Amino acid sequence: MNQLSFFQAEIAGTGSYLPEKIISNSDLEKTLDTSDEWIRARTGIEERRIASEDESASTMAVRAAQEALSDAQIEADAVDMIIVCTSTPDIVFPATACFVQKELGASRAVAFDISAVCSGFVFGLSIAEQFVKRGQYANVLVIGSEVNSRIMDWSDRNTCILFGDGAGAAVLQRSENTGPIGVLSSHIYSDGSKADLLSVPGGIGKSRISHKEIDQKQFCLKMEGKAVFKNAVKRMIEVADEALKFNGMKPKDIGLLIPHQANIRIIESVADKLELKPEKVFINIQKYGNTSAASIPIALHEARKSNRTRQGELTILTVLGAGLTWGAVAVKW
Ligand code: UT7
Repeated sequence: MNQLSFFQAEIAGTGSYLPEKIISNSDLEKTLDTSDEWIRARTGIEERRIASEDESASTMAVRAAQEALSDAQIEADAVDMIIVCTSTPDIVFPATACFVQKELGASRAVAFDISAVCSGFVFGLSIAEQFVKRGQYANVLVIGSEVNSRIMDWSDRNTCILFGDGAGAAVLQRSENTGPIGVLSSHIYSDGSKADLLSVPGGIGKSRISHKEIDQKQFCLKMEGKAVFKNAVKRMIEVADEALKFNGMKPKDIGLLIPHQANIRIIESVADKLELKPEKVFINIQKYGNTSAASIPIALHEARKSNRTRQGELTILTVLGAGLTWGAVAVKW
């Protein structure tokens, strides 16, 4: 606990929501010059979920949040703050979090979005940590929700095979337990000089939406995959290591690593460098692909539900996303 912390901040509940529709690699083979073999070998992905027409970041966020609230055994009116981490908001404004607040009936909560792309949930947890540890709020709902399918160029095999839709949520709760327990620390970074490596470059505030931009698919995700890959490996290792050192721990103290699920080869490189055995690394990329800000909270929820986060053990979350942004969170259960 740092000197400004008066309380512990524990993860009291988690939830997730994945759309029903599944698109397998073989499905993609029908419309793209790609193969199941290439996608599995180069990314680890086997299938991904795709939102239906009537689903959006807010509807999926609500489903994940309801499960997290029920898991934490609290009602919506106990929520003080809702942070929705998304780069695929329902509309430009108001914030997706305001729609979520309304649907949940969390009338006391302040609700806002943050845009840190794949790092969103880690950034959101870091913001929540400050309010909870200082004692200002008792329950903060942090949600990652993305409809990546709506910003894909479905003719670009370099990107569309990678991403999927979904949502994950966690309740960060003020606790008077004599710790250290819960979120021990969070560490977040950005490097805007690398913004062009991964972006949706189309207008809105920069330029009025034009037919030309639409024709050029400027509202679809563009990525320099190799450069992002290299940065992800370097930064995810570096920041996980920082989280360990900050808490006086070493890689051998990790009970479970929950890395952002962007590519199995990134995950394996991070795990190798930290000398972690496979049972200490959570992987679900095969089922969902990269769900951006939803990736870590979905994994966190599945890890808790399958008893891979045991009492007294340390979990490290680590991520890199567009921005570039990156970060890690150390959690003790
Ligand atoms: O959430 C954070 C953001 N995202 C990431 O962290 C993703 C980071 N990047 C990556 O995961 C990888 O760079 C990719 C999966 C995107 C690409 O893998 P790669 O090993 O870097 O492949 P590459 O781009 O070097 O492509 C190798 C070959 C190329 O063919 P040539 O030029 O060698 O003939 C590509 O055209 O594979 C080809 N290729 C494909 N082939 C079949 C690229 N995409 C596909 C595809 N199917 N879907």
